[in-house]
Amino acid sequence: MAEIARMRHGSSIGQPLTRRDGLLKVTGRARYAADNHPPGMLHAVLAESRIARGRVAFLDVEAARAHSGVVEVMTPANRPPLAQDPDDKSVPFSFRLDLLQNDRVRYAGQPIAVVIAETLEAATEGAALLAPRYEAEPAEVLLDAAEAFVPPAVGVGGLAELWHGDVETGLAQAAQRIEATYETPLQFHNAMEPHGVVAAWDGDVLSLDMPTQGFALTQARLAALFGIRTEDIHIRSPFIGGGFGSKLLTGPQVLGILAARLVGRPVKLVLRRAQMYGPVTHRAPTRQRLRLGAAQDGALTAIHHHVRTATSRFDDFFEPSASVSHTLYAAPAIATTNEAVRLDTGTPGFMRAPGEASGSIALESAIDEMAEACGIDPLEFRLRNYAEVEPVSGKPFSSKALRECYAEGAARFGWAGRPLAPRQMRDEDGLLVGWGVGTATFPALMFHGQARAVLRRDGTGLVETGAHDMGQGAWTALVQIAADSLGLDPDRLEFRSGSSDLPDAGIAGGSAHTATAGGAIQAAGEQAIARLTELAVADPRSPLFGAGNIGVVARGGRLVRWDDESRSEAFADILARAGLAEIEGRGSAATDPAMVERYAMYAHGAVFAEVKVDPELGQIRATRLVGAFAAGRIINPRLVRSQYYGGMIWGLSFALHERAVLDSRTGRVMNADLAEYHVPVNADVPSLEAILIEEEDPHVNALGIKGVGEIGITGTAGAIANAVWHATGVRARRFPVAVEHLV
Ligand code: MOS
Repeated sequence: MAEIARMRHGSSIGQPLTRRDGLLKVTGRARYAADNHPPGMLHAVLAESRIARGRVAFLDVEAARAHSGVVEVMTPANRPPLAQDPDDKSVPFSFRLDLLQNDRVRYAGQPIAVVIAETLEAATEGAALLAPRYEAEPAEVLLDAAEAFVPPAVGVGGLAELWHGDVETGLAQAAQRIEATYETPLQFHNAMEPHGVVAAWDGDVLSLDMPTQGFALTQARLAALFGIRTEDIHIRSPFIGGGFGSKLLTGPQVLGILAARLVGRPVKLVLRRAQMYGPVTHRAPTRQRLRLGAAQDGALTAIHHHVRTATSRFDDFFEPSASVSHTLYAAPAIATTNEAVRLDTGTPGFMRAPGEASGSIALESAIDEMAEACGIDPLEFRLRNYAEVEPVSGKPFSSKALRECYAEGAARFGWAGRPLAPRQMRDEDGLLVGWGVGTATFPALMFHGQARAVLRRDGTGLVETGAHDMGQGAWTALVQIAADSLGLDPDRLEFRSGSSDLPDAGIAGGSAHTATAGGAIQAAGEQAIARLTELAVADPRSPLFGAGNIGVVARGGRLVRWDDESRSEAFADILARAGLAEIEGRGSAATDPAMVERYAMYAHGAVFAEVKVDPELGQIRATRLVGAFAAGRIINPRLVRSQYYGGMIWGLSFALHERAVLDSRTGRVMNADLAEYHVPVNADVPSLEAILIEEEDPHVNALGIKGVGEIGITGTAGAIANAVWHATGVRARRFPVAVEHLV
């Protein structure tokens, strides 16, 4: 009911609409990239390295080529030339790629050949017949193995070292000090839809069906690699079966495009599940040392967050785990420092809340340990250290309803009466019960996007923007914004998206897509309405004549006088009298540097977790999760809640399930499949609740919205770890928390 009460009169913003693409998806009619089969299409299969470092000495290309149905085998010997070295990073956001440029092997799972055949089966069999021989060199794949260095930057341009205030004095003068080291594991992307492409060349014009989180980024890289014009690269990506950052950057799909070039026919290349554990980026492992000092009343005197992480031997990406410590808790002295090692693995990259997810797990655990040391309830401890301004920058927050998140989340969860000491609660079966809390935060970002809006004489509208739906419900939320700005019912709107031929909507990443694409749509809609208004108010035959540009609002397909509802005119009538078939508006949206200069902009949340632990076996189950989140204006509460659920499930996964295990001798991932690489299933998540906290933000962007995609993961993992301590009295500092850490 509260949601309905919040709805603005006549607006579709704030309504819990169901997904526009829902029926297509549940009936199997949504066409994903790999569902496309252009005439004459061939199938390509990657062969990947089984060693982590060295060179490919031999491939039995003859045997593969002789196999029935195999058309061609692509190796460094015959791979078509590229206009740009795959190791060239001059295009923004480029990662170094392995595109068969030579016989070197840089990590296990690296592509070393591509077999192209009439059928998938023939290509698969051909790849098996290659029987590679290697000259292997010793490889290092573990965080301890290699010599550390200070990275040039972390994440995207983040400072590797930041000292604010006098940390050592803050620690020395503290009544309570803790120092603890937390380890987070190597994690891999397991989107339901693996990376793939269907590529077709027509001369130098390239058509692609390919999931991507960024059309313009992908076009720019492919144009550079192939020496062709960006406008000659047509990408269709109407549906994405999960991206999570792994589909932001151009990756091994380029080999499918090269294969199509080589054979002169359309080619489909889809990675097998096991091939997702190598060339498509991952979350790097971290070891994080937290040093905290606090006065006896619990006020923090210093925070030092040090991170050791890993990147590949040949490229740079550093998980920015310490950055959350700049933002979350008030302390007069805060330092964040980083070191990294180079390993013989694929390059890590953006993976759901990169940095915030791994970093908040350590910070939230350490905060809990300090609350325990001070003998203060962990929620009360967080409130005593509430950051009224962003601690490191000193900037005010554009909005911050975190206090309300704590209060409403705690009330809903039933936090009051929680015993301070661990091992105090049991359920009727004798299982140990524990409760924990974690703070969630994620920056409110924005990229650059464009859109086009059209009002048509038949009373319908059209909105075009090259946006991306990875499952988050973008199609629906963006249409709600369009309907609001055009004053039309969502059902009267045609929405074209998911194609690079449309105005670019910017990337779907950093939880910023709705703000970016939505902002552009709103601006386009406003321009269309402004043009229509000019026609009406200047025309003596219109009931709106003389109303002036700002004197009307668009609602229900009509322009209505602000001060006199009885005077209005239908869009269609205005267009008809003007002899126009349609009227168009264009708009764009981008970060406002003045606002970034003045305000710290973040979404916030509080997550409460209950776990039950078997006292004999150490088996852990998360039985209840309640998250309360404040993220500015909510476009669609149903979709937003679904995003929070997804994030919280990732957090649960981080706390208790996910971990890739590397064989230190071969460098190979030993659990490269969904049977052995554990992610939660329904039975692992018995009770999940997300509360939407009202928050008005006049500064963050024109729509007043913050991202909701990634924040849920950030508070949840720490809350669960803290609940495990509360149940058992054991601090697990290695993730995922496992039976062997407790017994
Ligand atoms: Mo997200 S890691 O920016 O897709």
